[in-house]
Amino acid sequence: MSSVNDIRSTFLNYFKANGHEIVSSSPLVPRNDPTLMFTNAGMVQFKNVFTGLEQRPYSTATTAQKCVRAGGKHNDLDNVGYTARHHTFFEMLGNFSFGDYFKERAIELAWNLITKEFGLAKDKLCVTVYHTDDEAFDLWKKIAGLRDEKIIRIPTSDNFWAMGDTGPCGPCSEIFYDHGDHIWGGPPGSPEEDGDRFIEIWNLVFMQYEQVSKEERLDLPRPSIDTGMGLERVAAVLQGEHDNYDIDLFRALIEASVELTGVKAEGERRASHRVIADHLRSSAFLIADGVLPSNEGRGYVLRRIMRRAMRHAELLGAREPMIYKLLPVLVQQMGRAYPELTRAEALISETLKLEENRFRKTLERGLSLLDEATVNLAKGDTLDGETVFKLYDTYGFPLDLTQDALRARGIGVDISGFTDAMERQKAEARASWSGSGDKATETIWFELKEKFGATEFLGYSAESAEGEIQALVRNGAAVTEASAGDEVQVVVNQTPFYGESGGQMGDTGEIAGEGFTLTVTDTQKKGEGLFVHMAKVKQGKVTTGVPVVLTVDHARRSRLRANHSATHLLHEALREVLGTHVAQKGSLVAPERLRFDISHPKPISAEELKRVEDMANEIIVQNTAVTTRLMAVDDAIAEGAMALFGEKYGDEVRVVSMGTAVRGEKAGKPYSIELCGGTHVSATGDIGLVRLIAESAVGAGVRRLEAVTGESARAYLAEQDERVKSLAATLKVQPGEVVSRVETLVDERRKLERELAEARRKLAMGGGAAGGAEAPREINGVKFVGKPLTGIDAKDLKGLVDDTKTSIGSGVVLLITVAEDGKASAVVGVTEDLTGRFSAVDLVRIAAAALGGKGGGGRTDMAQAGGPDGAKADEAIEAVANALV
Ligand code: ALA
Repeated sequence: MSSVNDIRSTFLNYFKANGHEIVSSSPLVPRNDPTLMFTNAGMVQFKNVFTGLEQRPYSTATTAQKCVRAGGKHNDLDNVGYTARHHTFFEMLGNFSFGDYFKERAIELAWNLITKEFGLAKDKLCVTVYHTDDEAFDLWKKIAGLRDEKIIRIPTSDNFWAMGDTGPCGPCSEIFYDHGDHIWGGPPGSPEEDGDRFIEIWNLVFMQYEQVSKEERLDLPRPSIDTGMGLERVAAVLQGEHDNYDIDLFRALIEASVELTGVKAEGERRASHRVIADHLRSSAFLIADGVLPSNEGRGYVLRRIMRRAMRHAELLGAREPMIYKLLPVLVQQMGRAYPELTRAEALISETLKLEENRFRKTLERGLSLLDEATVNLAKGDTLDGETVFKLYDTYGFPLDLTQDALRARGIGVDISGFTDAMERQKAEARASWSGSGDKATETIWFELKEKFGATEFLGYSAESAEGEIQALVRNGAAVTEASAGDEVQVVVNQTPFYGESGGQMGDTGEIAGEGFTLTVTDTQKKGEGLFVHMAKVKQGKVTTGVPVVLTVDHARRSRLRANHSATHLLHEALREVLGTHVAQKGSLVAPERLRFDISHPKPISAEELKRVEDMANEIIVQNTAVTTRLMAVDDAIAEGAMALFGEKYGDEVRVVSMGTAVRGEKAGKPYSIELCGGTHVSATGDIGLVRLIAESAVGAGVRRLEAVTGESARAYLAEQDERVKSLAATLKVQPGEVVSRVETLVDERRKLERELAEARRKLAMGGGAAGGAEAPREINGVKFVGKPLTGIDAKDLKGLVDDTKTSIGSGVVLLITVAEDGKASAVVGVTEDLTGRFSAVDLVRIAAAALGGKGGGGRTDMAQAGGPDGAKADEAIEAVANALV
């Protein structure tokens, strides 16, 4: 028996041997299609290649593509479990020609694969063609040798495949397998075609056209081929089964769930096991591709899938989370073909478990509230909409669950009352919103949010995506177009641009569409859920409703990621070094650096800073994956996650963990766990390096740290290094000797300064080479020394005056020093015994006046003053001498 894994690789290798490039499955979240919720066919990733917009280095390709059909246009969710062939997740095998081969080769390749490689009997097969496609009819006849009645012409859209209302399309030809007359049904086109006997296994699309609008269809640049074969279906055929859920892969999953619950997959319970097996696959693959359960968009569809599986687990009697326990079986079955599944196993497991716990709580609480609210109701009654809304809004108990639970008791629900209550709440929220801030502009965001719903943020996993412009706002008003040079705010249905929040700056980049380009200078969050791109039209004219490609400035975003992750590491390291009183008091994550404020009562010493930096770098070097989980706030905090100051958290939060602690109680556990909506590196090594560059005070008990990472850190260190090198060159020593050399120089300099001051003093006071001590003059019986000096610092004058006073024993001393700029400083000293007769203050004022200055101050025994006119020093001395007469 060929296993699913064998069939997949046989298919891919067959096409490889026939010259096709094996291309990996694209993610389930389409990056190149604004309108598509999930990738739902193999050709999705090649859409732009068919239309000639995008070039690839190959012209033929083959893939096994992950597909999800739940939510949006193709919604198979409610059928899953009850039919033989519905899935929310399936794999589509395909081969593609981008203007290379066309119908003939496509039919030949398909026929040879199924009849030769897979060995299907020709008489079990029949095909359909579009009714006017004679060419395909003739080719099937020629290549496969099928009889005319086995080539069925179908006039309906069943045999014209289109990807959507617009996009590549063309007539198609389908291959059917006859499961045998023990099953009811007839060939395609017959009245019994809806039966289950003839099953389509492969669709060959002859891509010829591009539907550009409802009316307009263009020829593709070159005719192309797109095929799709459901792996589960063909596996059923090759394994001799009729039901997809009986193939090896599903058997393994269902056996595990039977074992876990002790309930056989029979009768009424069969569907529950199938639902669980199917939904486990879609949930696991969606989580691996970055979708996490939420209340909006893709996350909401995922949540519905998960909760549907959980209700079936409940029906099987499970009282504890169980779906996550099946994950290892899925990884064992599919992990080799899809390594992303193995990589994300821990995240998927935890997300499933948490959602099951949360759902169980919601279910219990909701049901008991519902019981209370309905004690007085009887069969045929209706529960009022207000109560149903309260259950939904306050307790998260969804409307469909309420309806379901009451259905059994024959009680209805007042749906319009529920809708009214919902509308009223929205109106109240709007009123309170428009009351704050700039009323007019804030209201417009709220209205746009109401009209279009929240913007879906794709930027955790993508930096480029397609979207559709929903609104343009200029000067506070919605407009339908903007032209080159205009500044405009742009709302798109989905975006990879991060809106400024949590300290991290908004993304910048480019939005481009047909005939126009916008430069995005910032992205802000508005109206509780909108991401608003602040842009300028660079070229062309932009209008609302058109598709665009949004591209985030990658280099800048990478630096933002690194700086944000480094902030978390430094935060944790600071708590380790300084103590757990450290809490973040705000932060700025900019591309060129990061800055954050923490509560700490005193300056952080250089030694502490060094330890903090070393610890953060220790985690960077571990280079382990940074993981993100979505959790209930309380659970996250119970796990030790740090909630940040000033942040508003919803019921659910993203929890970012990085590194493994190497010391203390936490050894072996995650190093940093924080609630954070920001964008982060994928592995700590991507930070490269973190360097603290400044520490300062910003207020009482708050310190500010600044740091750089990666290339900025390298540049910073290189600059420091250059400085040391040039210093070493100047000092003529090796860089390693700079410090001791500078210390020696500083010591030497101090010593020289002391010696120089001493020498000058001696010289000034008449010692040294310039001559003998100045003898005091006697004026009126009082000894007087008056002397102009040069080369003496004003600050040294008082010491010199003191010395002179001591040497003359009794008398008056006036020393004047003239600086290089010509200004004079004067100090007068009067010995103690004479202070009754002369005041130093009066005398220095006389000197100051002569020097062109005013004032002067001090005590009676010592006073100082200055004046601009140093050339008059001698006159000043004579003026003081005269005052002694
Ligand atoms: N794109 C085609 C399909 O999905 C092959 O059926």
